[in-house]
Amino acid sequence: MLNSLLNLARPLLLTMQPERAHEITLQALEAGIYGRDSEKADPALKVAAMGLAFPNPIGIAAGFDKDARVYNALLAIGFGFSEVGTVTPRPQEGNPTPRVFRLPRERAIINRLGFNSNGQDLVYEMLSHRTPDGIIGVNIGSNKDTSDKATDYAEGVARFYDLADYFMVNVSSPNTPGLRGLQVPEELDGLLKRLNKTRDRCADASGRRVPVAVKLAPDISMEDLPAITDRLLANCVDAIAVSNTTLARPPGLDPRLAHENGGLSGQPLFHRSTVMLAQVYKMVAGAVPLIGIGGISSGETARAKIEAGATLIQLYTGLVYEGLPLLPRIKSHLRAAVKSAGASGIGDLVGAKADEWAAKPLNNA
Ligand code: FNR
Repeated sequence: MLNSLLNLARPLLLTMQPERAHEITLQALEAGIYGRDSEKADPALKVAAMGLAFPNPIGIAAGFDKDARVYNALLAIGFGFSEVGTVTPRPQEGNPTPRVFRLPRERAIINRLGFNSNGQDLVYEMLSHRTPDGIIGVNIGSNKDTSDKATDYAEGVARFYDLADYFMVNVSSPNTPGLRGLQVPEELDGLLKRLNKTRDRCADASGRRVPVAVKLAPDISMEDLPAITDRLLANCVDAIAVSNTTLARPPGLDPRLAHENGGLSGQPLFHRSTVMLAQVYKMVAGAVPLIGIGGISSGETARAKIEAGATLIQLYTGLVYEGLPLLPRIKSHLRAAVKSAGASGIGDLVGAKADEWAAKPLNNA
């Protein structure tokens, strides 16, 4: 009932300036205007990954709840996990507006927010209201004007260690100058060694080891990918997320908006990010679980991500266009997929079509 209220408001929200519409959505969720998921977690959708037990594999991607305002609402609605952030150590405003653009025909978004964040202190305060139930990841990044990016990430791990179920190291946002340079194998190696040290120190002090995942850009070339996955595995990351937004502009985008600087998300990202996911899946050969992100907008696309190699999936842009009913639609599609495959759980479908996906050309949208 309440979800249908938000659903009725969606056409109106889509007429508003995107950041305004997002703010109203957050306020509605903060005010409790949403329907709680009353279904008991379906055993067929349960997933174990990173040492955590997920009630279902569908999570909210970073950027939706940057300042940890609505994570409890998202879990109550039925997401299997919620990722807050990206959080920067100090508060920062991000880029000048307008900086988010909808491409409705393509079911896409271009954003160049540039890590607008309330900063670690305020986000920590917000997260301290979390209940022990539900899985919450903290996506960490660096301030734009920092002189030492690695220190910013290490601060993120240390600061949120007692509240996070996992960390997502975001080295793939296209909107902070130099950030993607941290994906270069030697840089990545240095960063992860530093973070592992911080994590080990915190783990010794707390007796609890919080997993660390790394989120990659879809614009990494196939030639560079093996050296990157090699460094990720050598530094024992707990999961790899594929992918963040793309700087690429597939043909056919609205020419009035395609030129806007920023990262493209939504349907035009689906093909490329899914091919890359399958290639990473084959490279890591089961050593770590993958989180598939990019252009999930239906049960079919969610299933495709899992079959391409994702143990967990996340979405953002699909929710903007499809609204909250997308979540139960994906769940029932995945449930039916498990049943028709004669499988015992969704985990059995992971990577079932990885060979097929990995063989596709990257740019064949
Ligand atoms: C994002 N995304 C993102 N990712 C991240 O790691 N940190 C962030 O702060 C943000 N911020 C952000 C803002 C907006 C407006 C969008 C649309 C996206 C990227 C997001 O988490 C995801 O990786 C991509 O959007 C691809 O998934 P979808 O949107 O196609 O489902």
